[in-house]
Amino acid sequence: MTAINAVADLAIEGDIAVLTLNSPPVNALSAAVRSGILDGIALAIADSKVKGIVLICAGKTFIAGADITEFGKPPLGPSLADVQAAIEGSPKPVVAAIHGTALGGGLEVALVCHYRVAAKSAKCGLPEVNLGLLPGAGGTQRLPRIVGPAKALDMVTSGAHIGAAAAAEMGLFDVVTDDAALRADAIAFVRQVNAGQRPLRKVRDLNEKVEAARGKPELFADFRRANARRFRGFDAPEYNIRCIEAAVNLPFDEGMKVERKLFLELMNGTQSAAQRYYFFASRQVWNLPDVPADTPTIDVKKVGIVGAGTMGGGIAMNLLNAGVPVVIVETAQEALDRGVRTIRANYDNTASKGRITAADVDKRMALLTPSLDLGQLADADLVIEAVYENMDVKKDIFGKLDKLVKQGAILATNTSALDVNEIACATSRPEAVIGLHFFSPANVMKLLEVVRGDKTAKPVIRTSMELARKIGKIAALVGVCPGFVGNRMLAQRQREAQKLVLEGALPWDIDRVLYNFGFPMGPFAMSDLAGLDLGWIREKSSSATLREILCEMDRRGQKTGAGYYDYDGKRNAKPSPVVEQIIRDFAARQGKTSRVVSEQEILERCVYTMINEGAKILEEGKAIRASDIDVVWVNGYGWPVYRGGPMFYADTIGLDKVLAAMKNFEATLGADFKPARLLEDLVAQGRKFGDLK
Ligand code: 3HC
Repeated sequence: MTAINAVADLAIEGDIAVLTLNSPPVNALSAAVRSGILDGIALAIADSKVKGIVLICAGKTFIAGADITEFGKPPLGPSLADVQAAIEGSPKPVVAAIHGTALGGGLEVALVCHYRVAAKSAKCGLPEVNLGLLPGAGGTQRLPRIVGPAKALDMVTSGAHIGAAAAAEMGLFDVVTDDAALRADAIAFVRQVNAGQRPLRKVRDLNEKVEAARGKPELFADFRRANARRFRGFDAPEYNIRCIEAAVNLPFDEGMKVERKLFLELMNGTQSAAQRYYFFASRQVWNLPDVPADTPTIDVKKVGIVGAGTMGGGIAMNLLNAGVPVVIVETAQEALDRGVRTIRANYDNTASKGRITAADVDKRMALLTPSLDLGQLADADLVIEAVYENMDVKKDIFGKLDKLVKQGAILATNTSALDVNEIACATSRPEAVIGLHFFSPANVMKLLEVVRGDKTAKPVIRTSMELARKIGKIAALVGVCPGFVGNRMLAQRQREAQKLVLEGALPWDIDRVLYNFGFPMGPFAMSDLAGLDLGWIREKSSSATLREILCEMDRRGQKTGAGYYDYDGKRNAKPSPVVEQIIRDFAARQGKTSRVVSEQEILERCVYTMINEGAKILEEGKAIRASDIDVVWVNGYGWPVYRGGPMFYADTIGLDKVLAAMKNFEATLGADFKPARLLEDLVAQGRKFGDLK
């Protein structure tokens, strides 16, 4: 065995050279890996005993892509294009032996090999679109030559990982073998090529599938139309489509030029910078400086949930999906039955769409034990309280749980805003108490705010984070403050939206601005969807707010066919002249004069106040880092990922601009706009949120 460099070595097995890359964690194509491949291939070609080459990886995966940490830095070492040219132009057959995930540049390297042998458990894909990019190493030109333009469009715009069997069916993998036999079978495969059973094939020369699609622009027009909603706001999907079009309409080398040009445009844009930032942010979130990954954890074998309402049921589904037994407790049989029926109906619905089987549904339901007896939770390892937001009720439940649940168990509350420390005080073991703030619908939303109380023990925190990972959530550790991170910032936006309406902007103006910014919907459309009567009590309603007036008129949102908007039978919203008049009258009664509010003012007041609150959250240490706040907003509130998150967005527009706008608003509109100390300090120091360590 010859060491090529620190991450590559070459072993000669008879007449075959096996070039092994070993660059943990994912064999990304760093400068060292690129050099290792280039030099290893050259050595194998130069060795007259060698008749063929296998490219394989050690560790958990084949090359998972370009090294994202190198993006935006000065180029080092050989280019990926040179490496690929050496492989593709090799006079001796090169076969990729793929396990794990061959992604992005990894698959693009495999596609310049003459053949691909894959382990059964391997996957491949071109996920660049998720980083705001396109496959920039020939992927957009080679992929359609194998799988055809239609499948290529799906793959490059979704970034989906394709399993080995499907990849083989599409022609991406030539052979699929048992995982343990991968190396040996890849070697045997090269020998077959040399025995004349297969030609030295170059994907770039396969023109049949692209030529067949030439002169059929409707393929692309239809694809764009069908996916317009999904791609809204994103640059990368359209750029990917244009590259596949180029593959169909242009000779290979010309197509490569289009790919390069569009790749560089995306790479230099803010959207890709935001999406690459988010990639690392969503991994960083699991790193807790004072609760490291090796903190002891509690084995969660049984979970109790108090409350079988919408939240309790949704939370239960997460755990059942992950194979964790759940006891769900209610106070009345009827409520319990309703909760269980809803869970079952949700599963049946998923099964009817073919996403799970009927057997999966039965398996999950079999893990669920409904009960009216809190005592059933005595031996649970984790109990999650999910009753309505009332401090007295929650304290009462925690007092009871404290008496009956075994020592060592975690007692969690799903509160979305209440003081977790106060709830913890209702027990004799505040160190066991933590907040697990799931977002509604809890079986769908990715985000979990893990709320650390003053006394929460470290194993309780680490266990909660690991459990979140196990059930497929993305968790952010936050501190106790009203609304925690997400809702605390949201409150700023809601307040401004309500104020703006009284100053002259109409609900649909505000919604349009936020929708165009990239949110799935604005605050008023959101209220209509959630129901304006959440927490509204008819007997106490006194027409004191717009919301009360609308609820009193039975305009309680989509469910009553009217809220801030009017709805037709199909939930299509139309601006409501009635609501416009109600707003004008209400504002007049409040002594407000209507003025024209610009779109820029709407955006700045709704978003800059959030950024400012985010700065206060950091200042108070209620979030570990700015990027955690961004992860909360992307996953819990539909913040467009191509803008990174509120804190990243602030950095891209410039903190000095945000501060100046806040000061302006403060001078004219008052204390709601008082800049956070941290924002002032960062501007004074010429630093950004991203510079905070
Ligand atoms: N470059 C640099 N670091 C990477 C990386 C990459 N392409 N992919 C993963 N990593 C790092 C992660 O940041 C993480 O680091 P950390 O441990 O310090 O937090 C570590 O590798 C492990 O990653 P995950 O936590 O994500 O591990 P998983 O096992 O859950 O997932 C994976 C593995 C499926 C490979 C996942 O990491 C992934 O999807 N990676 C990105 C793949 C990708 O987007 N490839 C395309 C890159 S762009 C490209 O190739 C351009 C080309 O067309 C020119």
